[in-house]
Amino acid sequence: MIDELLRIETDVLLRIGLADSLDAVKAVEADVMGKKGSLTDIKKGLGALEPDERRTVGLRVNDVRAAIEGAVADRRAELEAVARAARLDAERLDLTEVIGRAKRGHLHLVTQTRDRLEDVFVGLGFTVSEGPEVETDWYSFGALNIPPSHPARGMWDTLYLEHGAPMSTLLRPHTSPVQIRVMEQQPPPIYSVMPGRVYRRDTADASHMPVFHQIEGLVVDKGISFADLAGTLEAFTSAYFGGSITSRLRPSYFPFTEPSAEYDISCIFCEGSGCRTCAQTGWLELGGCGMVHPNVLAAVGLDAEEWGGFAFGFGIDRLALMRHGVDDIRELYTNDVRFLEQF
Ligand code: FA5
Repeated sequence: MIDELLRIETDVLLRIGLADSLDAVKAVEADVMGKKGSLTDIKKGLGALEPDERRTVGLRVNDVRAAIEGAVADRRAELEAVARAARLDAERLDLTEVIGRAKRGHLHLVTQTRDRLEDVFVGLGFTVSEGPEVETDWYSFGALNIPPSHPARGMWDTLYLEHGAPMSTLLRPHTSPVQIRVMEQQPPPIYSVMPGRVYRRDTADASHMPVFHQIEGLVVDKGISFADLAGTLEAFTSAYFGGSITSRLRPSYFPFTEPSAEYDISCIFCEGSGCRTCAQTGWLELGGCGMVHPNVLAAVGLDAEEWGGFAFGFGIDRLALMRHGVDDIRELYTNDVRFLEQF
């Protein structure tokens, strides 16, 4: 029996060492220690032995059993480590490949439009200025010739902040307050554009957002006339939209310009012949403009006898829609990548 035990031990340890899977290890284990296993058979036969011999063989059975259990545990650990490594290898993400295939991001359409507008005006000799989005009543209205309770305040549905005296601090409803800040900060001649975000108590619809963007233009110099305003807007129109698009000015009203006008361009889709986008008029409205009102020059201490100027302001978001033939301004802000990646 001792010889048989030695044979079993040698044979089983060899088979365990050669087992190439966890199932194979399990099978060897069952062959030796299962109900009908070779070691189990020997244990069953112990009862028939003399007490001395039973003890000797019994001890030897326990040794062989311990050796086999130890070998099974070691082999199992080895095979599990190999399986884990293979699984990790299979699950590994090749991120370099993902980065290589991924689309690169780009600037938002409104930012692209703003950058292009700035480029065109810089090309015409303008500087670019900015002002705060949280403004005072004075810069937004008072200095722009719109005193408190002036009916024209209704033109801008303003959002007020609970700060300081009631209705003294607000989210600017247009970029015109930056005109005042620029005139305070630098002496004329001034040729500057002022892009930025503005806020109004407007409900979002196809052509309105409560938060949108405008670009303001201001020129203050000696001997500036309405012809300079018209000529500048015409030069801008062909530089931005191309030679076939022209501009026109229609009489309008803004408290801070006199005379005032609406600035239209010939429809960029039908080039003036009339289509759905321009409501068959052949023209698209871009914004307002006019000659800087003497009261505005006086508000910043400039002598209206000596200096004159013009100003204009239009909506960047609507400009972006027109250029790309998008018919709903809300599309710009739903952050749908399928929409945004087209531009
Ligand atoms: C003004 O805000 C004047 N400050 C413009 C101006 C500047 C006139 C300098 C004269 C001299 P108005 O409220 O019309 O004007 O707005 C100008 C443009 O902003 C509009 O033509 C339109 O393109 C855009 N706009 C106005 N409201 C919204 C809105 N809720 N959503 C998107 N764009 C808007």
